[in-house]
Amino acid sequence: MLNQQNDGSFNLNIFDSPENAASSLAQQIIDQTLEIIEKQGSCVWAVSGGSTITKLYDALLLHDEALREICNKLTVIWVDERVVPHTHQDSNFGSAYNYFWSKYKDANLIPVPYQQDAEEAAKVYDSVLSENGVEPGNVDITILGMGTDGHTASLFPGNSALMERNKKIVFVEDSSVQQPRVSLTFPFINSSRHIYLLFYGAGKAHTFQQAVNSGSVDDYPVLGIKRANLGIYIDQDLTF
Ligand code: 6PG
Repeated sequence: MLNQQNDGSFNLNIFDSPENAASSLAQQIIDQTLEIIEKQGSCVWAVSGGSTITKLYDALLLHDEALREICNKLTVIWVDERVVPHTHQDSNFGSAYNYFWSKYKDANLIPVPYQQDAEEAAKVYDSVLSENGVEPGNVDITILGMGTDGHTASLFPGNSALMERNKKIVFVEDSSVQQPRVSLTFPFINSSRHIYLLFYGAGKAHTFQQAVNSGSVDDYPVLGIKRANLGIYIDQDLTF
């Protein structure tokens, strides 16, 4: 690690490459998961989609032995999903399963159930999570990415989903994306015991810098993530 800043606002972990940032985050997540399972016998992850997380999956694969040992005690939910069949190339679950989770079939994977109607998909997912005992406050580790527009999960700038304070799951339509989405809401995400944000590249570093300078959650939804629980892993030197 090149630098760690914890000036009370952000816990920034800065590395000299995306791979090193992902590798350090993977180690942190594995260590924390082992500790949590030791204490409570199980662990709940909430994982994002997109492309950045595949670097984390690559790093997690180096902990294959530990993962095989614990995966039957691991419940995995999706932070957000595009409302497409899981076989569709854009499905976050489908991509993650093919790329990583198919190796750990004993994990309790809870994808967003596909429904043609996005609003119905959000309602069904809410019920499925409740049936599996996954409620706000008992997600242990949430892994987020960030778009170059400052969105996280499927919480997009200026979208009414940013205002949701009661539901744990919302369906989202936004002009910035092709398909309707289902997303965890800020209250649900922020109830996670540990939240990790992984992003890399100068473009996203600039976005994050702009976000912090602006202070506007509506313009930069990533600012809506509770900082006290948040660890940021990046490959760019940011100073505030
Ligand atoms: C999605 C993701 C989304 C993602 C960011 C970053 O469905 O797209 O869940 O929130 O984390 O958009 O995406 P990239 O990692 O592809 O840049």
